Amino acid sequence: MLVYAGALAAEALSVNADLNTLMRQMAHVPLTDREGNQMETIRDVAVIVGSLRRDSINRKVANALAELAPAGLKLSIVEIGQLPIYNQDGDDNSPAEWSAFRERIRAADAYLFVTPEHNRSVPAALKNALDVGSRPYGKSAWSGKPGAVVSASPGAVGGFGANHHLRQSLVFLNVPAMAQPEAYIGGADKLFDASGKLVNDGTRKFLQDFMQAYVAWVAANGKS
Ligand SMILES: Cc1cc2nc3c(=O)[nH]c(=O)nc-3n(C[C@H](O)[C@H](O)[C@H](O)COP(=O)(O)O)c2cc1C
Repeated sequence: MLVYAGALAAEALSVNADLNTLMRQMAHVPLTDREGNQMETIRDVAVIVGSLRRDSINRKVANALAELAPAGLKLSIVEIGQLPIYNQDGDDNSPAEWSAFRERIRAADAYLFVTPEHNRSVPAALKNALDVGSRPYGKSAWSGKPGAVVSASPGAVGGFGANHHLRQSLVFLNVPAMAQPEAYIGGADKLFDASGKLVNDGTRKFLQDFMQAYVAWVAANGKS
């Protein structure tokens, strides 16, 4: 079926329409089909993976979630490994990496955190990303957008400690985190094949159900 966003046509012709702005606007424009019936709004979901490891299980989980996402969501991983450690001295003259990250976070409609547990808490790289996005004071890039948390570990507890420490920060950052279903994925090293493909049907069904709940959460708590 041919899909077009009628309201964007005039905007697209405007000489000064910058592509980034246009893409951002497109994420909010309800698509219409040939008959003009309104279709689902596509929401831009920034996925933050808490691991920097090349062969990260959590990145594989994030990729699986992106594949299982319902049509109304577009998931993309926002990298955090390049961010210099947050230091308040940089607020007046921020490193380019901080500024680009803040801009990307501000542009997103919603967040999805997929994280391992480090010593029963959030990995330092993820905490750093939260801090970078939250400053300068009063200019947090995170505020007011809905989120959800998935934690995964080879251990049986599935990163519960990280999951809940992260939720504590999200309360302060004003990112309402979906309460149910909770997602603590234990034994996660056994769920993927050598190519990174999810090979456990039970987990696939769980992640699918999680994404169905998440799309409803984003619709209910996001900006229209
Ligand atoms: C510094 C460090 C601390 C860790 N602490 C925990 C922990 O508290 N709980 C846990 O389940 N696994 C812990 N692990 C093991 C991680 O779950 C495991 O390395 C996992 O593969 C990390 O996720 P990733 O594959 O996405 O990087 C720790 C690993 C590291 C490197």
